[in-house]
Amino acid sequence: MNSSVNSLRPMTEADLDQVLAWRNHPDVRRYMYTQHEIGMEEHRAWFGRASRDSARHLLIFEVEGIARAFLAINQSSCATVADWGFYIAPDAQPGTGRALGIAGMHYAFDELNLHKLCGQALGYNERSIRFHERLGFSREGVLRDQHFDGKDYHAIVCFGLLAAEWRTVQAHKSRS
Ligand SMILES: CC(C)(COP(=O)(O)OP(=O)(O)OC[C@H]1O[C@@H](n2cnc3c(N)ncnc32)[C@H](O)[C@@H]1OP(=O)(O)O)[C@@H](O)C(=O)NCCC(=O)NCCS
Repeated sequence: MNSSVNSLRPMTEADLDQVLAWRNHPDVRRYMYTQHEIGMEEHRAWFGRASRDSARHLLIFEVEGIARAFLAINQSSCATVADWGFYIAPDAQPGTGRALGIAGMHYAFDELNLHKLCGQALGYNERSIRFHERLGFSREGVLRDQHFDGKDYHAIVCFGLLAAEWRTVQAHKSRS
C-alpha cells in the first residue's frame, strides 16, 4: 500500500458512528477485552472522557481520504511510554493493517517522541501477534490466564518496541 495516500488525523464526533460500527463488528469485538455490543450512549461517554484526556490520542487512519481504521495511543504514568490499540474496518483491503501500523509508529516516535511503544494481544489473536512481530516489536512476555472473558481465562501476549530500535530499522530502509 502506497504510504503517500495514507494519513492519521484526530478522531472527532463525526467519526462516532463509523468507529462504533467497526468496534461492534464480531471480527473486531472478539479480540477486545470487553466483548459486549456497545450502545451509542456508552460509546459517546467513552469518547467524551477519552478525548478530554491529554494522555490519550484517538486517531483515524485514512486511505485516500476514507476512514479505514481506529488507533489509540495511550501514554502511561511514564509519559514517554505508551500502549497502543487499534482495529481496521472489517472490509479493509489487504495491507491496511500493516499500513496503519507503520503510520502509527511514525506518529508515536516522530510526533509524540515516545521512548517505547507497547502492544498487548489476547493469546488467540494470531493476526495481531503476527502483526506486531512483522512490525519489529519484541515479544516481551506472556501473562498467563490474565484475562477472563466470562467463560474462560486467556493469556495476554505483551509486545514492546523502543524508539532506538525503530530508528535503526528506518536508517537501514533509507540506505537500501
Ligand atoms: C490486528 C490487525 C490490525 C492486523 O492487521 P492485518 O490483519 O495484519 O492486516 P493486513 O491487511 O496488513 O494483513 C492482512 C493479510 O494480508 C497480507 N497483506 C499485507 N499486505 C498486503 C498487500 N499489500 N497485498 C496483499 N496482501 C497483503 C498480510 O500479510 C496478511 O496476511 P496473513 O493473513 O498471512 O497475515 C487487524 O487484523 C484487526 O484490526 N483485527 C481486529 C482487531 C484487533 O485484533 N486489534 C488488535 C487488538 S491487540
